[in-house]
This record gives sequence, structure tokens and C-alpha cells, in this order.
Amino acid sequence: MTPTAAPVSGFMSMKGGGYYSRATVGARHVIDGATGLVLDALERMAPDDDGTVFTMADMGCADGGTSLGMVVTVLGELRRRLPSRPLQMVYTDLPRNDFSELFRTVLGSGHLDGIGDLSVFASGTSFHRPIFPPSTLNLGFSATASHYTDAVPCAISGHVHMVGATDSERAAWVEQGRLDWERILTSRARDLAAGGRAGRVAFGGGGRRAAGGFG
Ligand SMILES: C[S@@+](CC[C@H](N)C(=O)[O-])C[C@H]1O[C@@H](n2cnc3c(N)ncnc32)[C@H](O)[C@@H]1O
Repeated sequence: MTPTAAPVSGFMSMKGGGYYSRATVGARHVIDGATGLVLDALERMAPDDDGTVFTMADMGCADGGTSLGMVVTVLGELRRRLPSRPLQMVYTDLPRNDFSELFRTVLGSGHLDGIGDLSVFASGTSFHRPIFPPSTLNLGFSATASHYTDAVPCAISGHVHMVGATDSERAAWVEQGRLDWERILTSRARDLAAGGRAGRVAFGGGGRRAAGGFG
């Protein structure tokens, strides 16, 4: 086992220039399929139309293309429910993400033009850390991203996939994943506003191909 502990933020990015969302139709289908979960979460939140800023986030957004349909639908529903509240949409990913392409995709496409009083921002802070000022995130979403660890605990010797890991290598990755999941949950607990919701869609094991939920 070769200890490396390389921080993932130092090398991780999807291929830029719009390639990611052109080549990853399956991920878009997953997010489109999860749109109902987001709308259900919104229904349960029943946010007041009290004039304060409402913040939504897509965490691990890549170039924003795969989530654009869901984001347009949910922001449209927020605008309908909350006419007095300024909307803030925040796209987050790691620092090496192609954020220029993200803005070309979500703003250059004009898909968000019909949603009034909307501000769009991006953050390069990892979702393993707090991203927002405490208690200010109302609705967080993340798809097909939370399986990425914060660091590489060790190389998998003689293989490129977890199926080839030795017992000790596998144990190191399991422990890294456990710590990172805890970091994700505690960071969102800090970010979320009272009554807020954060949900994610992720690869599932044990016969389920994908799992998702809002809590
Ligand atoms: C497979 S892509 C999924 C993109 C999009 N959410 C989708 O479902 O199509 C995973 C994304 O998560 C990002 N990512 C990985 N680790 C991250 C972290 N710690 N914080 C924020 N983004 C991260 C990657 O850079 C990448 O853009």
C-alpha cells in the first residue's frame, strides 16, 4: 500500500469546454428524474414569502449543463411561491472546475432569463467544508458527486478500480469515505438556514443503482 494522501482539490475536474454535459446525458437523466424530490422537499419546507433572500445551491455542479433543466424548474417554482423574495442561485465545485463554461452554460444560454430577481454566483469551496455564511442556505442539491473523497488515502496497487483493492487498501478508503461523509453532513448542518433542506443523488450499492433523498 502506497500512502499518498493527495488532496483531491489539487487535481480533480471534469473535462472542460462543455464536454462534460455533452458527454454525460445519463447524469442529466438522473437529475431530471430527481426534480420531483426537490419539488417535494420544497412543498414540505413551505417557505414563507417574507421578503428575505432565498438561497439555492448545486454542489459539485461541473459545467452546470446537466442540472439546468432541474434548476430552471425549481427556481420557476420558487419565483411562483415566493414573489417577494430575491432568489440567489449558487453553483459550487472544486477550484479546478471550468467555471467560465459554467457561466456560459447557465447565463449564456438564456434559460434563466425569465426568472425575475435572481442573482447567480459560483463558489470554489469543497463541499467537505462549510460553503455559506452560517444558517443561510435554504435548499441544497448535489448529484453524483458525494462519492468523491476529500483526499486519496492510498493508491490501489496493481489496479485502477476498487474491485482490485487489497483488504487494507479497501479499509483505508472506507475510513476516508466515513470521515468525508461526516464532513459533508456537519458542513451542511452549519450552512443550512432554519427549515432548510439539503439533498443528494448518489450511486447506490446492494442492488439499488442510485439513491437520493432530502433531509
Ligand atoms: C460526476 S460530476 C457530477 C456533475 C453534476 N452534479 C452531475 O450530476 O452531472 C462530479 C462533480 O463533483 C465535483 N466534486 C468532486 N469533489 C468535490 C468537492 N469536494 N466539492 C465540490 N465539488 C466536488 C467534481 O469536480 C465534478 O464536477
